[in-house]
Amino acid sequence: MSVTLVAAVARNGIIGADGGLPWHLPEDLRRFKALTMGHTMIMGRRTYESIGRALPGRATIVVTRDARWTAPHVTVAHSVDEAFALAGPHEDVMVVGGGEIYRQTIHRADRLEITHVDADAVGDTRFPDIDPAIWRLASRQDGSGYWFASYVRGERVSDPGALLAGLDPEVHGGEYVFCSVPLDTGIPAGLDPIVTVREAEGLTVVLPRAGAENAGLAGTFRSAWITLRVQSALTAVGLTAAVSTALTRDGIACNVIAGFHHDHLFVPVDQADQALAALVALSHVRR
Ligand SMILES: NC(=O)c1ccc[n+]([C@@H]2O[C@H](COP(=O)([O-])OP(=O)(O)OC[C@H]3O[C@@H](n4cnc5c(N)ncnc54)[C@H](OP(=O)(O)O)[C@@H]3O)[C@@H](O)[C@H]2O)c1
Repeated sequence: MSVTLVAAVARNGIIGADGGLPWHLPEDLRRFKALTMGHTMIMGRRTYESIGRALPGRATIVVTRDARWTAPHVTVAHSVDEAFALAGPHEDVMVVGGGEIYRQTIHRADRLEITHVDADAVGDTRFPDIDPAIWRLASRQDGSGYWFASYVRGERVSDPGALLAGLDPEVHGGEYVFCSVPLDTGIPAGLDPIVTVREAEGLTVVLPRAGAENAGLAGTFRSAWITLRVQSALTAVGLTAAVSTALTRDGIACNVIAGFHHDHLFVPVDQADQALAALVALSHVRR
């Protein structure tokens, strides 16, 4: 399955106003038709209501939490996962909005087909940020007052020099701690850890210090969370070693966790600025 998000987005991120579009842009409607024709579309119930009918030549899956909702020529899904399952594994799925559905699907998209409207718009619905660390502009076509853009996911980097040159470290705000909770009780309700690791001795959770304290969890290693925004391949060799060597030189303890997309470092909170400076310096040496 390939997943494409199709949207028209104002300069300030607005995509909708009062249940409709903030503009009338025939070129965008033509592009929308060309992109979606013959494919399966997934849309939120509110976007469906704004269109008012199933569009011909395309299968329409509408996502709603309302168990009784139906509409002619429409397949109903009660969760985003169900919508993708209903689309089937071999489909080119077009996610066509609106804001709620884009937000919940952008992380699984392969492409973004965006009409950038060259103006700020007044409205109440937004497109999620198009993170340049994730999305690469593959093609653009300029129009009058708008431009069409196709974004693809940036290639994952495995070359050690390129990885270091593109580290792009970001310090998240706040303070985090490591806790261990018994395997049989699990994570206390209401907590949303950044990291969990299952060990024989218990479940390690890394989470905001305030959350741990509120839940009565004894946390240790008060840390800052730094994400390396480079899209590192899981098979890349040497990134962790280079980063921890640079931090070791400055006497900074560093706990590294590999996520699917990025590497994440937890360093002592009072050394966050020093760690960031060391990472930026490491990155510049490789440029
Ligand atoms: N510029 C563009 O390209 C573009 C494209 C599409 C839409 N739009 C605009 O965006 C606006 C609509 O966007 P929106 O964010 O308000 O609404 P939306 O995303 O179209 O639909 C939201 C609805 O989808 C259902 N839903 C969302 N998440 C769900 C989940 N996880 N499980 C089950 N159901 C779920 C809920 O329906 P129920 O309330 O029925 O439970 C929710 O109210 C309109 O102004 C529209 O014109 C713009």
